[in-house]
Amino acid sequence: MTGLSKDFLWGGATAANQAEGGALEGGRKLANIDMLPTGPDRKKIAAGDMEMLEWKEDYYYPAKEAIDMYHRYMEDIKLFAEMGFKVYRMSLSWSRIFPDGDNAEPNEEGLQFYETIFKELKKYDIEPLVTIAHFDVPLNLIKKYGSWRNRKMIDFYVHYAETVLNRYKGLVKYWLTINEINILLHSPFVGGGIIFQENENREQVKYQAAHHQLVASALATKIAHEIDPENQVGCMLAGGNHYPYTCRPEDYFEAITRDREGYFFIDVQARGKYPNYALKRFEREEIVIEMEPEDKDILAAAPVDFVSFSYYSSRTVSAYAEDYEQTTGNIFATIKNPNLKSSEWGWQIDPLGLRNALNQMYDRYQKPLFIVENGLGAVDVPDENGYVDDEYRIDYLRQHIEAFKDAVEIDGVELLGYTTWGCVDLVAASTGQMSKRYGFIYVDRDDEGKGTLNRTKKKSFDWYKKVIATNGEDLSS
Ligand code: BG6
Repeated sequence: MTGLSKDFLWGGATAANQAEGGALEGGRKLANIDMLPTGPDRKKIAAGDMEMLEWKEDYYYPAKEAIDMYHRYMEDIKLFAEMGFKVYRMSLSWSRIFPDGDNAEPNEEGLQFYETIFKELKKYDIEPLVTIAHFDVPLNLIKKYGSWRNRKMIDFYVHYAETVLNRYKGLVKYWLTINEINILLHSPFVGGGIIFQENENREQVKYQAAHHQLVASALATKIAHEIDPENQVGCMLAGGNHYPYTCRPEDYFEAITRDREGYFFIDVQARGKYPNYALKRFEREEIVIEMEPEDKDILAAAPVDFVSFSYYSSRTVSAYAEDYEQTTGNIFATIKNPNLKSSEWGWQIDPLGLRNALNQMYDRYQKPLFIVENGLGAVDVPDENGYVDDEYRIDYLRQHIEAFKDAVEIDGVELLGYTTWGCVDLVAASTGQMSKRYGFIYVDRDDEGKGTLNRTKKKSFDWYKKVIATNGEDLSS
């Protein structure tokens, strides 16, 4: 038993689009995520309704103000420091830095905003882990170019990445190029600002967009290393493996096939080339990806330094899926696993699935791993003093921490760190709800945008503080 290294990066994670708000402040302009209202019409854009690309009076847009981190960053960072965070994962808002996405010059006010944050984090010895694009595409790039379906996006993204890599040299060392890159396949508007046109081959569009993202990510990785050899760049997968529902060989093969949908991206980013199973599939399904002659070399030249992923749940599949009851789990609908309990949102809880994911990825890539999202989305009910006794969250996190400790201590997986999702309550990406809370810090805000936005420590706040202080040795509550 070796335990976790003394440099293990404990912390929490947020994303600009779900926390900052200030949607039109400081020179920022709108992005894809700002256009998603709460309620059933949230899905309209994804279904191709272009009219939803304007704000409308009858809708509530949660990203517009979110939890107002734009004005409260310092207060939140102070609380993170009090918990003893070694790392804080956050994202930059692309449209805060390049408001239209195709601007030649960046918005200085936006750059300055993040510089102040990084300097504040440094004061507390908190290492920033920065996602360059987290479900974030400037609206202008969607309207004018069709977003990632267009090859021009590579240049816009690279210009943006190069700008921030230069500007924050010495302040930021850990970078993620694109959040949950495989979400592009499951939620193309959120993952890539893609709106489908009538009768087009959607798989073709998605994989063409994926190719552009992969080339852009590789170029950013290369530039990051050139700007500062100290930079550590990671890819980011919406993780969680697929179990075969039965031991029928067809079910097992279905599980491998579904795992590969996600691994496809990481195979390219970590190994530097398209895997054969994907090339064969494209051939079979007549998916033709337009590539430039230099793309192969670009991908090969810049594999990532580490592999990061989010983990909330495992998934269960069968070659005969229609025979079984389905559940939802972070955009992926899968079969309900009878061996697992579910969260209030139907996400199945499987701590051992995290150890499984870590082992599978370490075997496959032999690169350091980083768990950059994990947590329980739950309804919290404050008592009359405003205190939230979230023992259920502690329980969830404890079991997942035990699972990754086993992966490190027993299986020998190399793990850089662990950042829990939504360390301060924020807007849920899938539903736009505030009531789906993940945080150690309660934010007084409801699903309709009412509340003081005041921050209060939950029971899990002190618990996580102790976990960090003992480097994961004391998980008791
Ligand atoms: C991941 C995303 O998909 O899961 C986050 O990277 C998201 O942005 C998180 O918030 C949890 O999903 P949700 O829908 O509960 O917010």
